[in-house]
Amino acid sequence: MKLWILGKTGLLGKALAEACKEIDFVATTRQEADITNLDSLKKAFHEIQPTHIINCTAFNDVDGAENTPDLAFGVNSLGVENLGKLGRKVIHISTDYVFDGTKKVPYVEEDPCNPLNIYGKSKREGEIRLLNVQPDALIIRTSWLFGKGGKNLISSLLHLLTSQKELKIAADQIGSPTYAPDLAHAILSLLNHTGIVHFANVGEASRLEIAQYFLKMAKEKQIPLSCQSLIPIKMHFPAQRPDYSALRTDKTLAPRSWQKAVEEYIDAIL
Ligand SMILES: NC(=O)c1ccc[n+]([C@@H]2O[C@H](COP(=O)([O-])OP(=O)(O)OC[C@H]3O[C@@H](n4cnc5c(N)ncnc54)[C@H](OP(=O)(O)O)[C@@H]3O)[C@@H](O)[C@H]2O)c1
Repeated sequence: MKLWILGKTGLLGKALAEACKEIDFVATTRQEADITNLDSLKKAFHEIQPTHIINCTAFNDVDGAENTPDLAFGVNSLGVENLGKLGRKVIHISTDYVFDGTKKVPYVEEDPCNPLNIYGKSKREGEIRLLNVQPDALIIRTSWLFGKGGKNLISSLLHLLTSQKELKIAADQIGSPTYAPDLAHAILSLLNHTGIVHFANVGEASRLEIAQYFLKMAKEKQIPLSCQSLIPIKMHFPAQRPDYSALRTDKTLAPRSWQKAVEEYIDAIL
């Protein structure tokens, strides 16, 4: 077995490479293998000769995608189809943003997709294009990814809590935070699965609830935070986001709670 991980510089790509200590793998950057360029992919593919291709690349700028749909669709949709055309098993990562957030209980894999923004539309199209060219590919949908070595929702929150006295924070969007190392281990345990599965840490939260948890934990661990007060607000982003996008994860490993994962993350970075 030899894994080819695309997206070496990304949050998940790094976590996956770290989780592969006992497994033969090659991780590539955009310069080494650009997923929007089939010739570049074929060249890298022939050199690496992988048994599995794991796509950790994405155009991930949810707000920016509204003004640059060609870039978003190029990477998240056509690029994913390119990978499928290489004729080797693809494991691809997708998102909770394929859903419109009108449900009130966690989304299952079979729920109808109705993405609200360009990023979500490009990711959904990527799922469809990949399964068309490679019906036995595996797609793992995840949400609210956090971990070491990358700006993400949790790291941004921590930065705000340590730099501001008062924080206005969204109480209206609910999702499932997911620790990149937990997702990395799940990916390795699912390599020979097919179809679409969901993976996230157990539980759901708004940004406000995550911040409240940070404040509680900081007190227990005596971590100095400057923030004394959290003010719930309704957030307005350039790209519309689902109000509710928690994922039900019955088909994957029983992961730990997001609170336990956040605690490990904090211990790892402080
Ligand atoms: N982050 C989240 O909250 C979240 C939530 C749900 C789902 N996901 C999904 O999880 C996966 C991993 O996300 P992440 O947060 O780890 O992403 P990330 O940190 O933004 O990393 C994206 C990676 O993709 C690479 N890339 C971009 N365009 C490329 C191209 N044309 N060819 C080759 N590589 C390219 C980037 O390389 P450069 O460094 O050169 O730009 C980077 O290594 C993605 O599929 C994402 O959609 C993420």
